Amino acid sequence: MSFTLWFTGLSGAGKSSISARVYEEMIKCNFAVELLDGDIIRTNFAQDLTFSKEHRDINVKRIGFISKLLNKHGVISIVAMISPYAEVREQNRQTIGNYIEVFVECPLDVLKKRDTKGLYGKAEKGLIKNFTGISDPYELPTQPEVVVRTDHESLEESVAIVMDYLKENNYI
Ligand code: PPS
Repeated sequence: MSFTLWFTGLSGAGKSSISARVYEEMIKCNFAVELLDGDIIRTNFAQDLTFSKEHRDINVKRIGFISKLLNKHGVISIVAMISPYAEVREQNRQTIGNYIEVFVECPLDVLKKRDTKGLYGKAEKGLIKNFTGISDPYELPTQPEVVVRTDHESLEESVAIVMDYLKENNYI
């Protein structure tokens, strides 16, 4: 059964790492699967978009549309995007149908300390505008199917939680 596995969460929370490992696991099992990562999408497919609410919503809807098309052709879609606005996530949930939301949760103070890309520091100095969690909102998921806590779990533990959900609910 094809479906969309949508990872949402703050920058640096671990969406890319977890989704990439889940993708690898599915490739190993010979599933038809595609990985759509926010950073890669923005470099190759969404260069026209900024981080305003309007543009983020367009970005999230576009990838929702592509995911639905992939699913229609039997391809599993794994998406890793901040997708900060609840209303558009909800619209995707309705239009995609087989939509599984994974909230990659990590407290902001931990992310600021990690600051792997140096973006939080820049955002706090005002060098990056509209930065999620600092100068832009992140609306918490109200009904995620899966929650992973990357401040408590190792990468492999988070991957296992996602894979277990998919197996227990007969998606894979
Ligand atoms: S969104 O909101 O879903 O359209 O964002 P997304 O396409 O996932 O892009 C997030 C990555 O863009 C980098 N970046 C920013 N993030 C948030 N706010 C601002 N202003 C911003 N500017 C650049 C950042 O590296 C995000 O990557 P991740 O992987 O989430 O850390």
